[in-house]
Amino acid sequence: MSGATVDPAVLEKVRGWRPYVEAKLGFRNHWYPAVFSHELLEDKPVETMLLGESILLNRLDGKPRAIRNRCLHRGVKFSKQVECYKKGTITCWYHAWTYNWADGELSDIITNPSSSLIGKHRLKTYPVREEKGLIFVFVGDIDPPDLSSDVPPGFLDEGMAIHGKRRMVKSNWRLGVENGFDASHIFIHKRSKLVAGNDIALPLGFAPIDAGDSTRAVIGDTGPTGLYDLLGEKSIPVFEGELSGETVIEGHFGAKKVADNISIWLPGVLKVDPWPQEGMNQFEWYVPVDATTHCYLQVLGRMTATKEEADAFRQEVDAKWIELALDGFNDDDVWAREATEEFYGDNDRGWIEERLFETDMAIVEWRKLASQRNRGIQRSDNL
Ligand code: FES
Ligand SMILES: [Fe+2]
Repeated sequence: MSGATVDPAVLEKVRGWRPYVEAKLGFRNHWYPAVFSHELLEDKPVETMLLGESILLNRLDGKPRAIRNRCLHRGVKFSKQVECYKKGTITCWYHAWTYNWADGELSDIITNPSSSLIGKHRLKTYPVREEKGLIFVFVGDIDPPDLSSDVPPGFLDEGMAIHGKRRMVKSNWRLGVENGFDASHIFIHKRSKLVAGNDIALPLGFAPIDAGDSTRAVIGDTGPTGLYDLLGEKSIPVFEGELSGETVIEGHFGAKKVADNISIWLPGVLKVDPWPQEGMNQFEWYVPVDATTHCYLQVLGRMTATKEEADAFRQEVDAKWIELALDGFNDDDVWAREATEEFYGDNDRGWIEERLFETDMAIVEWRKLASQRNRGIQRSDNL
C-alpha cells in the first residue's frame, strides 16, 4: 500500500514518540469496532478495512466471523463476487478454492477435488466479539487479551445502553484522536447549535496553570490504558476572546457544565463524561482504515435499568442527539481533521514541522503513552 510507511528522514528527527509517528496504519494486536451489529446480517458477508487489512465479516448461526479478504491462491478479494455453496464455507469466485469461515482451513477445491493442497493451508481468521451492538475485531497475531483492556472504563458495564453512528473521515486516525483530546480545539465549536440550543457552558479555550501537569495516566494491568485531561481543574477557561485589549469574540456562558472528564484510551478511543448532557457519555473511536482514512464511530451511552429504558434511550438518540450532537457538534471536528490531513499526511513532515503550545501537553502525553504502551505497530508487510 502506498504511503503506509513514514519517511525515514522524518522518523530520524522525531523525539519522544517515534513509535507513534511510525504507527501510520495504527497499533496492531488491539481490538477495534468494525461495524454495528445491525450492519451484519445472517450469511451476508460484509467487507471492512481495518489498519489497511481487508477483512470479510459474516454472521453464521448468529455468530460473527471474520476472515482475511484475500484468496491464498492468486490473492484476489473474495468480496469482488461472494460465492457460498455450503453453509459455513466461502468459495473463491476465481478457481473455487473453498475455505471454512470458522478456522480458515482450505477444505475443498471444487475445480480440483484431489488437490494435495486441500487441508494443508489456512486463511487468516480474526477473533471477533459482539458487545453493546458493535462488532469488535482483534487485528493482530497474539492471543487476544480481553476486550475490556481496549475500551474505556464504563463502556462494557451492565446496563450501559449504547447507540450511535459511524462514518468515514478523510484523515489519518491520529489526527482524529488528537482533535478529540485537544483542549483548545473547542474554539471550532463556538457556533455549534448544540451549545446554544442546550445551554452549555463552552469557553473559547484554556490557559493552563501548569502545562507540565495537565494529565493523569492510567496504566491498565487488566483494564484499559489511557490518559485523563485535567485541564478543567488546572487551567483558566478563556471566555473573552481579546485582541489588543478589545473583546472580539466570546465563548458561550451557558448554565450547564458538561465534559468534566475527558479521557483517551488505547488503541484510540475517547470518552467524554458527561456529554452531551448530565447522565450521558460519549465514546468515540478513530479506527484506522488506511493511511489517510479513519472510521469515526461515535456512540452515546446512558446507564439504564431495564430493556425498555435502553430501547427508549436508543430512540432518544435517533430522534434528538444524532442531529444535535453527533452531527451538529461533531461535524466541526470532521472538517477540522480533514483540513489537518494535508500538513501531516502528504509527506509526513507535519510531525516535525508542527509548533506545539502549552495546551498541547495533553496531546504530547498521549503520544508518549501510546508509544510506550501499544502492543505493536501495523507495518506494510502485514498487509
Ligand atoms: S484466486 Fe482464488 S481460487 Fe484462484
Ligand atoms: Fe470537538
